[in-house]
Amino acid sequence: MNIMSISRRRFAQLLGVGAAAVVVRPPLSFAKPTQPDATSSTTGGTIVRLSANENPYGPSPKALKAMTDYFGLACRYPDEHNNILIDKLAKLNNVDHDQILLGDGSSEILQLCADTFAGKDRGKLIAADPTFEAIINNASVNGAEVVKVPLTNSFSHDLPKMAAVAQEGLIYICNPNNPTASITPRNELHDFIAKAPRDTMILVDEAYFHYADSPDYESMIPLVRDHPNLIVARTFSKIYGMAGLRCGYCVAQRETIKQLRAHQMWDSVNIMALAAAIANLDDSNQVPSGQRLTSEAKAFTISELDKMGYKTIPSQANFIMFDCKRPVVPLIQALKQRNVQVGRLFPALPNYMRLTIGKRNEMETFLSAFGQVTA
Ligand SMILES: Cc1ncc(COP(=O)(O)O)c(C=O)c1O
Repeated sequence: MNIMSISRRRFAQLLGVGAAAVVVRPPLSFAKPTQPDATSSTTGGTIVRLSANENPYGPSPKALKAMTDYFGLACRYPDEHNNILIDKLAKLNNVDHDQILLGDGSSEILQLCADTFAGKDRGKLIAADPTFEAIINNASVNGAEVVKVPLTNSFSHDLPKMAAVAQEGLIYICNPNNPTASITPRNELHDFIAKAPRDTMILVDEAYFHYADSPDYESMIPLVRDHPNLIVARTFSKIYGMAGLRCGYCVAQRETIKQLRAHQMWDSVNIMALAAAIANLDDSNQVPSGQRLTSEAKAFTISELDKMGYKTIPSQANFIMFDCKRPVVPLIQALKQRNVQVGRLFPALPNYMRLTIGKRNEMETFLSAFGQVTA
């Protein structure tokens, strides 16, 4: 078969064939960099990396198979395959094809939102404190004024305060929020989006959507239909295990998508990421199995920390944030020396540690090292 001249229909069929094949999932732990699956190591030791909210189980075996099947397409621009993924995402989210924009990770979507709506001449960025900082950096580089609004006592976005300072520009709402893993209740968000001035754009970042199971949590994608100023971002980096491949997207009304696309580099999502994302969506096991494994390891970790006297902010994500009752920076450094990487300092919460939920054995290693560095 000549894979170079493959038709779009054939491509979809092939992904189906790939999806049906049984593939053994290769090991995805951190090992020496000379090994193909390696990502990090120290002098011979294995690092336990619980610092970047990645998914240690990786993408679906079907995604791994799809990528190897598509090595032959590496010399082609990915236009058709962009469309295949967009069609799937449009169907999944019950929106039209032209309401989806793919990005090189959702980081690209965040940057496009900052470039389009926040800057010296465009308007300010309003964000929570603490929250995921990427878009704050993007907007600052554009010369935008950045207004940080502290989270409430229950670690949700303080929407009334954010609304009070809104005026054109962009409001960034990370839900569940990174680094606190907390949610902003759906009723409050509905109300906020309904009342926000139309000339102020609202970006809801749902990177951790699949890990949230609270009845108070809901995606804002269905609201896009009635709200031209709403953009919702999603990523394949978390439950789909594709952080190293880079693929994300947003849903918005078509005029907004057009505005964002005007700032975008052409063909920013590569063919391997597209093949993997399409196959991941075709694996009905990928999401529930990631949810179950993470939830089990999370419950174990929270309960062990609780026994040690450390309280965790209620988590709706694949990471937790807990009060370590002392400045976190020396602990981060001491853990690093024991080959355990945890989240960085978030200056608004200097005594809190952000910890990614890895596999059970990784959490056991963390707990043992944490016991040593706090003894
Ligand atoms: C809230 C949030 N949004 C966006 C991203 C960026 O993800 P990516 O660019 O890998 O899609 C991250 C990464 O950790 C995140 O935590």
